[in-house]
Amino acid sequence: MIYSRIAGTGSYLPKKILTNTELESMVDTTDEWIFSRTGIRERHIVADDEFTSDLALHAARNAIEAAGITANDIDLIIVATTTPDKIFPSTAVMLQNKLGIAGCPAFDMQAVCSGFVYALATADNFIKAGAAKCALVIGAEAFSRIVDWTDRGNCILWGDGAGAVVLQASDQQGVISTHLHADGNYEKMLHVPRKTEPHARDTVVMEGSAVFKVAVNTLDAIVDETLIANGMQKSDIDWLVPHQANIRILQATAKKLEMSMDKVVVTVDKHGNTSAASIPLALDIAVRDGRIKRGDIVLMEAFGGGFTWGSALIKY
Ligand code: COA
Repeated sequence: MIYSRIAGTGSYLPKKILTNTELESMVDTTDEWIFSRTGIRERHIVADDEFTSDLALHAARNAIEAAGITANDIDLIIVATTTPDKIFPSTAVMLQNKLGIAGCPAFDMQAVCSGFVYALATADNFIKAGAAKCALVIGAEAFSRIVDWTDRGNCILWGDGAGAVVLQASDQQGVISTHLHADGNYEKMLHVPRKTEPHARDTVVMEGSAVFKVAVNTLDAIVDETLIANGMQKSDIDWLVPHQANIRILQATAKKLEMSMDKVVVTVDKHGNTSAASIPLALDIAVRDGRIKRGDIVLMEAFGGGFTWGSALIKY
């Protein structure tokens, strides 16, 4: 039996930090309001000359080093992103070139905030089918570029960053199961409508409190689905590495799992919602600071525009 296993993780955050206090001078809000409703204190923002493929490159190099491989060992690249550098070529192909390699398949995955879970599931299936042996799986976003910085109910949430894993074929179990879903009935609750005015910038539109309620219920269901599929109990999960949308959504999932918050990797306070980048960023941080160790059972779950949602259960 071929399994896929995470051989190394990496991440990158742009240097510029935007605090809630700075946001107070941009929109009618307060640090207290933002923190109490979302758990966010600050987020990182790309520089004018920095693009998603640049963030992905830093995270990829970190993960390649951690895995003890070279870029030439990679035979599949998947970049989950909603904010590609260009409409085409894909960010994955641009990243491949920046890594100094060519030839292996490289493509982007668009499932908004669930993108990393979708990409991990895809790479896992490539490896299990024998179609790849060493995949680079990335979530990278310059989300600040599609934010309406005058919409206080929305602009306070998002941040930029990238996280990466090297996923290798192994005879030891790594990815245990993945579960993916989508439902386009919810398209207009969270989306980026195309503007018709010339040169207008397309930005995120969201019904925040409605999204919140669907997210909590949907994530409850995906936790059950994942545990039942594997005949596992809540107590079998060592770590929850959730998509970092809002601390109150994370707390609701932890409660569902009867898990204390110190077993939940939380980065939303410092990163905001970095969409497809949030799970691999949080994973890398908890691996590097020694919380997540080899053999730990880790549940990742995500929810995003579409709606899309999904989970990945792994043995790290
Ligand atoms: N500062 C101060 N007040 C704000 C504000 C801000 N940044 N944003 C909104 N408000 C106001 C609203 O105008 C509203 O005022 P009103 O009662 O006078 O009309 C009030 O706060 C409550 O707004 P509401 O939208 O109901 O707040 P909320 O408690 O639902 O919090 C979100 C808003 C966006 C933080 C919350 O709904 C949320 O996190 N939703 C999920 C979003 C998400 O995670 N999306 C991505 C999924 S991947």
